[in-house]
Amino acid sequence: MSIKVIQHPLIEHKMSLLRRNDTSIYQFRSLVKEISIFLTYEALRSLETHEYQIDTWQGKIGARKISGKKLSVVPILRAGFGMLNGVLEVIPSARVGIVGVYRDKKTLKPIEYYKKFNDDISSRNVLIVDPMLATGNSMKAVIEMVKKENCTDIKAVCLVAAPEGVKNITEDHNDVQLFTSALDDHLNEDGYIIPGLGDAGDKIFGTK
Ligand code: URA
Repeated sequence: MSIKVIQHPLIEHKMSLLRRNDTSIYQFRSLVKEISIFLTYEALRSLETHEYQIDTWQGKIGARKISGKKLSVVPILRAGFGMLNGVLEVIPSARVGIVGVYRDKKTLKPIEYYKKFNDDISSRNVLIVDPMLATGNSMKAVIEMVKKENCTDIKAVCLVAAPEGVKNITEDHNDVQLFTSALDDHLNEDGYIIPGLGDAGDKIFGTK
């Protein structure tokens, strides 16, 4: 997996708000959505376009529109749902395939408990979204699930990545590109990213 840390003053500013202890659930949700919009914009920079003619007040001119494969977004339950609205803001007609994977508390290994892909996912580019790339085990499992569907153009988007998680996925999936707003320091013994955000799912859904 190749990794691109998106550096932009707006993202850095919003990430610092996201990390603060005094950020409310409402603000946290809004920030996750806003940063997801920026990251999606960057992740889709390589989309193909082609020229076509449009009628304007100056008569016909050449303009460009997106061509090639359409997109499926795959949020990983549950925290990936926090990013979905942001992604769909940028690409409103994307299909959404949902996967549920949780980490076993002891082994930190991913357990798949839900999968519903759109029927034509194999003919689409895939954007997997999950705010925290920690051990990388869940992301790796989902990459393998979409590869099983014969998807070939796969990108991953997260807010915070840990070096251990990136390394874990790089070994087997160097064809996948990861876009992230931060590459943090390390994982602690419980598999949390340090400094990270804490439990992103709990913060998005207000469950703690
Ligand atoms: N999931 C989270 O929500 N936070 C982490 O730091 C790691 C996994």
